[in-house]
Amino acid sequence: MTYSSYCESADFLRARLNGFAPEALLILGSGLGFLGDAVENPIFVDYGEVPHFRPSTAPGHKGRFVFGTLRGRRVAVMQGRMHCYEGYTMAEAAYAVRVVRLLGAKTLFVTNAAGCVNTDWNVGELMLLSDHIKLFDFGPLRGPNLEEFGTRFPDMSSVYTPRLRALARETAKAHGIPLREGVYMYFPGPQFETPAEVRAARVLGADAVGMSTVPETIVAAHCGMEVMGVTLLANMAAGVLPQPLSGAEVNEAAEAAAPVFSEFLLSCLESL
Ligand code: HPA
Repeated sequence: MTYSSYCESADFLRARLNGFAPEALLILGSGLGFLGDAVENPIFVDYGEVPHFRPSTAPGHKGRFVFGTLRGRRVAVMQGRMHCYEGYTMAEAAYAVRVVRLLGAKTLFVTNAAGCVNTDWNVGELMLLSDHIKLFDFGPLRGPNLEEFGTRFPDMSSVYTPRLRALARETAKAHGIPLREGVYMYFPGPQFETPAEVRAARVLGADAVGMSTVPETIVAAHCGMEVMGVTLLANMAAGVLPQPLSGAEVNEAAEAAAPVFSEFLLSCLESL
């Protein structure tokens, strides 16, 4: 993907947006896609319409942008995201981030459902990402560096912006929402981790394991965006409980947590 492909995608969207420029990009994981339906004065654009985009295939993901206003903020909401397990490269999975950056967005809110590795925590709780671990495979910045977006060797010391993390903590406190804070470890999936992989993740310092978020976050950090990442701890990770994991369990937990999760996210957005 070249710089001009990102520009062509952005030009296409600009033409559809009649002067509207998003301040923030919201990439919504399992269970939160409905937030896109709350956007005021919405402009819907299916991913399939946008040059160089490929549609999202994950079940329960709509595969479209919703541009408009949420709690007074100009947003681009992604109803459905691309995961590497669908067959995308990391750069493809994160493609939209650079496009929406070109439209003007400076902040990324990214959410996901993940398995809980930390045995002191509980299913249904929210975890603010303090950091992530991505050890395996190449990242989304592999290949020629696009200097227009950022530097060849971007710093990853504080990709989950401390200012936004402080704001998240304050917002959670003000609304009486319990909020954990910890490290998300990326696994490519789509198979869930083995119990041994989960034990390894715990030894390495992970509190949660999941299959998304990290490609988008690395790309956002590279192009100078501020990032807030929030996980729903949807299940105890493999081997923690004497029971198998299933996608259905994850979706049920995501639906149950959706009211609190969405209110938390909207409140953070409001106090940006
Ligand atoms: N592992 C990886 N991804 C996930 C999990 C998990 O246990 N739960 C939800 N997404």
